[in-house]
Amino acid sequence: MEGINNKMKRKIAIGTSSFAQSSDNAINILKTRGYEIAKNPFGRKLTIEETIEHLKDAVGLLAGLEELNEDVFAACPCLKAVARVGIGVDNVDFEAAARHNIKVSNTPDAPTYAVAEMALSALLSIARNVIEANSDMHNGKWNKRTGFSIKGSTILIIGYGRIGRKFASFLQLFEPEILIYDPYVPENDGRTLEELLSLADVVSLHVIGNATLLKEKEFSCFKKGAVLLNSARGSLVEESALIAALKSGIISYYWADVFNGEPYQGELCKLDNAILTPHISTYTSLCRNEMETQAAENLLRDLSDG
Ligand SMILES: NC(=O)c1ccc[n+]([C@@H]2O[C@H](COP(=O)([O-])OP(=O)(O)OC[C@H]3O[C@@H](n4cnc5c(N)ncnc54)[C@H](O)[C@@H]3O)[C@@H](O)[C@H]2O)c1
Repeated sequence: MEGINNKMKRKIAIGTSSFAQSSDNAINILKTRGYEIAKNPFGRKLTIEETIEHLKDAVGLLAGLEELNEDVFAACPCLKAVARVGIGVDNVDFEAAARHNIKVSNTPDAPTYAVAEMALSALLSIARNVIEANSDMHNGKWNKRTGFSIKGSTILIIGYGRIGRKFASFLQLFEPEILIYDPYVPENDGRTLEELLSLADVVSLHVIGNATLLKEKEFSCFKKGAVLLNSARGSLVEESALIAALKSGIISYYWADVFNGEPYQGELCKLDNAILTPHISTYTSLCRNEMETQAAENLLRDLSDG
């Protein structure tokens, strides 16, 4: 009987549907410590009922974006630690976790390089019309479009933390003028957001938090034809105001990897000047491996097994 309980106490459940797609490293770390691993059986985000069923008897969870609330924690008394594979922990009710003595961790550093790299690739693709040129060619058109160089462009970075800084460091190579809006860091420009928006050819969002930053009033300040990049959070941009700005040409292109309500199938999908990717900025083998390994190590530490 004791043997069975011990075995049950050592189960680790995986919530993320894409876990270990490119490397078994994290799973092997846990297996060598004697843990039994239960992968997400549905290959998609779990519902609350599915999460409870999946977490039954698990001591640890490698968490994706499934909701982790009081109901889940109350129904899973064996659970001792939740390790988010990623930065965002909006899906976790921290007070409920504390009530049930469940430790919660995330992997804030692992995504930095990959997200900055993805923002750069979106910017270069837009600046040099890669997406349209490819589409032209596939439609039998030999159409020489003129883009713009990053050199000499003014790029406003909103949010100068891990990813904003990495993006700025990548951009240096291309010799733009870089402006920084982040009232919480010493490098902050000091001018108002409205003033900085009016100067920028490209605006890139790297802010933490969900407060809406760009509404109708802010869009009215943008330089006409500016490019807006969003790898941070969909909620930072008021979608109705953004769509109006895309239709009027105030914003020439909007790239987003993040949306209000994912999977996203909304109005932006109908606009040619909205360049959309399905929250894949961290999806490189290197980055996923680092995130998964870091999360596994966090879990071992919080289960006092690190
Ligand atoms: N697309 C993805 O897959 C992906 C992956 C990882 C992170 N992200 C998102 O990227 C964003 C940045 O992540 P990070 O690791 O650089 O975070 P971070 O905490 O290191 O940096 C965020 C910065 O935003 C600043 N900030 C906060 N409120 C602000 C405001 N109102 N105006 C201007 N600046 C403000 C903070 O001072 C901080 O410097 C987050 O929103 C995160 O959720 C997305």
